[in-house]
Amino acid sequence: MSKVVAIMSISLDGYVADPNDGVAEVFDWYMSSGDVEFHTGGSDPMTFKVSPSSAVHLRALWSELGAVLTGRRTFDVAQGWGGNHAWGPAFVVTHQIPAGWPRPNSTVHFVTDGIESAAKQAKAAAGGKSVGVHGADTIQQLLNAGLLDEIHVDIAAVLLGSGVRLFDHLVGTPAVLGNPTAIAGVGVTHVRYPVRKA
Ligand SMILES: NC(=O)c1ccc[n+]([C@@H]2O[C@H](COP(=O)([O-])OP(=O)(O)OC[C@H]3O[C@@H](n4cnc5c(N)ncnc54)[C@H](OP(=O)(O)O)[C@@H]3O)[C@@H](O)[C@H]2O)c1
Repeated sequence: MSKVVAIMSISLDGYVADPNDGVAEVFDWYMSSGDVEFHTGGSDPMTFKVSPSSAVHLRALWSELGAVLTGRRTFDVAQGWGGNHAWGPAFVVTHQIPAGWPRPNSTVHFVTDGIESAAKQAKAAAGGKSVGVHGADTIQQLLNAGLLDEIHVDIAAVLLGSGVRLFDHLVGTPAVLGNPTAIAGVGVTHVRYPVRKA
């Protein structure tokens, strides 16, 4: 069954980007935590250079994914991933479809009728695989609506002090999560929690 999985790199003090939407510090482990190359695919491909344990972790996680769900700010910051996200078809929640989109030969879709509709469409498009979610606001809405199955955080060994927080604006707290699994990388720890549904 298709799961909805939040996947974010985060500083130890809870930020997913700095005050200017910069992710250099929390994404540093992707770029220079080892010598193992990991090729992302998609139409804006990148090559990560990670430790052996992070490479094992990335291969397993990415092979589970068949679609992506994000917020409009993440789409904007990522410049629309060149039109095709590496995880599969992308569903972007927004109040207004950006000028020039949707584009021919692109698998990026815009959802203007709410988070529930976006989750439903992304799950249907994932072909039985899971939906990876990016974007702090978007993840909070999914959690608040009971639509998130797992939280996966790559905890970077950095304290940012300020920026975009992952877990602002939660309702229904305290929310006790399921038992975590953890993989130690270099400069990062990969931790995955099941979300307990009410
Ligand atoms: N560390 C990581 O792994 C990672 C990964 C991805 C992104 N990021 C960072 O995270 C930040 C983006 O996260 P964010 O929380 O600021 O924003 P976000 O979740 O990416 O996008 C929020 C925006 O999406 C639209 N939206 C959200 N819910 C909606 C709904 N139900 N209906 C219609 N539109 C809706 C709204 O934009 P409109 O009103 O304009 O349509 C809203 O302002 C950036 O700084 C980015 O660099 C970090």
